[in-house]
Amino acid sequence: MASKGFLTREEVRDVYDRQAGSYDLAVWFYYLAGMRIGRWRRMVVDGLSLRPGDTVVEIGCGTGLNFSLLERAVGSEGKIIGMDISEAMLDRARERVRAAGWHNVDLVCAAASDFNFPDGTGGILATGVLTYEPEFDKVIERGARALVPGRKWVVLDYKMPSNWLRHLAPAFVALGSSFGVSKSFMERHVWESVERHLTNIRMQELYGGFVYIVSGEA
Ligand SMILES: C[S@@+](CC[C@H](N)C(=O)[O-])C[C@H]1O[C@@H](n2cnc3c(N)ncnc32)[C@H](O)[C@@H]1O
Repeated sequence: MASKGFLTREEVRDVYDRQAGSYDLAVWFYYLAGMRIGRWRRMVVDGLSLRPGDTVVEIGCGTGLNFSLLERAVGSEGKIIGMDISEAMLDRARERVRAAGWHNVDLVCAAASDFNFPDGTGGILATGVLTYEPEFDKVIERGARALVPGRKWVVLDYKMPSNWLRHLAPAFVALGSSFGVSKSFMERHVWESVERHLTNIRMQELYGGFVYIVSGEA
């Protein structure tokens, strides 16, 4: 059962299992609503400062829409570990990996809270994921401990703007409602966990303050 407007992990998994086939198309519709998602993905991956040969972990990788940027950054000698709670989303990611001929991508089906980050991780990202995860603080902390010192965790997520644009929250929430987004998601302050467990914090607000990218160094 959902509590306080939050979906349970099982409900989130069911939503994405159902939506997996139309997810990539839905992302294109968000461009029409002014979301510069392609640019945001580049900002996230650039923010990781990855090097060729690195192992990068993507939490909630979905259908793998960040993989081509990550591949370019870590090269064929590096490794991408993509994990997600939805097997149907990972099936799409698998198709993408096969079609591109990448041989350095491992896909893992798990809840983020159960995932064991490999030691010596060179970078971790989560785009539009951690507000779904009730134990996001534990996930950030575990990831921070697995990172090579000086390497980065970068999160793109949603929040309530601090200015008058907060009155447009119902419209923002409506955009994501088919993916289980609700107003209560914005009560999960994921950036505060990044601030708590990492250093050299950089935070950038986007889309009128509804979207942010935060990064921190281990
Ligand atoms: C909005 S989609 C984002 C997918 C991808 N990161 C992207 O940028 O296109 C959210 C993804 O997070 C996954 N997810 C949600 N809660 C999760 C959890 N607790 N653990 C792992 N994955 C989760 C969903 O299955 C879905 O694939």
